[in-house]
Amino acid sequence: MKECVLVTGGAGYIGSHTAVELVEAGMDVVLADNLTNSDMQAVEGVRRITGREVPFERVDCCDRAALGGVFARHRFGSVIHFAASKAVGESVCEPMKYYRNNLLSLMNVVDLMREHGRRNIVFSSSCTVYGEPDSLPVTERAPRKPATSPYGNTKQISEDILRDAIAAYGDLRGIALRYFNPIGAHPSALIGELPRGVPQNLVPYVTQTAAGVRECLSVFGDDYPTPDGSNIRDYIDVVDLARAHVVAIRRMIEGRNKADYEIFNIGTGRGVSVLELVRRFEQANNLKINHKIAPRRAGDIVAIWADPTLANTELGWRAERSLDETLRATWAWERHLRGI
Ligand code: UFG
Repeated sequence: MKECVLVTGGAGYIGSHTAVELVEAGMDVVLADNLTNSDMQAVEGVRRITGREVPFERVDCCDRAALGGVFARHRFGSVIHFAASKAVGESVCEPMKYYRNNLLSLMNVVDLMREHGRRNIVFSSSCTVYGEPDSLPVTERAPRKPATSPYGNTKQISEDILRDAIAAYGDLRGIALRYFNPIGAHPSALIGELPRGVPQNLVPYVTQTAAGVRECLSVFGDDYPTPDGSNIRDYIDVVDLARAHVVAIRRMIEGRNKADYEIFNIGTGRGVSVLELVRRFEQANNLKINHKIAPRRAGDIVAIWADPTLANTELGWRAERSLDETLRATWAWERHLRGI
């Protein structure tokens, strides 16, 4: 029988790209999303790319009864749990929203998986759990640092919930993927990131500046202890990231996991500074980005990039798309959105 996967947050940025890769890998998917920070446009995009009437359930994972209905109606064996709030700044102003949304939804998913006998879960974690790392590149063995935002704290607590539930009950298997900085869009330009309002993240701000929606990109700090003074991150293509979920699910279905709960860094292993990213975007797309140096943004860490060796060797996964390809795809998506 064909494997079926429930994708919570399936109308979101990473959820929609993962749904496409799962279908292309021969699996069935059910998408669930409350659409508070996402759009049916992404679901339509998934359907157009895959040519399949992928089922969609509008549901809030915090509503246990409603989510229970999804478990009762569909026969998936695995869950990829993306549904969560993800804005660092907002989480500082509205911590209760973040604790409620991010923790309650995961607890409901875990409880319902056990009630319905569904075994495998992949959880969306983040390199934010490492804080400012003591050495680079960062491996999975690096200590987690105290979280600097409620959002980051929810990722740490969620990992702990999963670890403890899997250890205690014996009827679940899980993989937490610690994403570095996801960017880019599907090569079809039918799905991509859909930020609401003023983008908080670098790449959507860059593409909106290129499109003339924003006047000028602020580069938050050029006086960091890095070669050009701007922050360094590991920008991972969203399609590469989506493929990591497919291999994680397969690993559990085929029983190749080495422990019931595993953690993998999902990054390229390559650190790129903010100024370098802007320059590479300009070169890849043959345009200019109006930008200025602005003060540092509170809470930003200086530099982080992944050591993805464990994912390379254990999952057999590696980032494949070049930064230029990714930056061309992200600009193609912005043009598609704006009709330019
Ligand atoms: N930046 C700018 N100008 C902008 C936006 C961002 O210079 O307008 C800089 C930031 O200062 C940072 C870099 O671009 O140095 C990347 O910033 P993002 O906001 O795109 O990404 P972050 O690394 O801050 O955060 C991301 C995710 C979080 C996650 C975190 C660590 O957005 O959800 O990585 O995992 F928690």
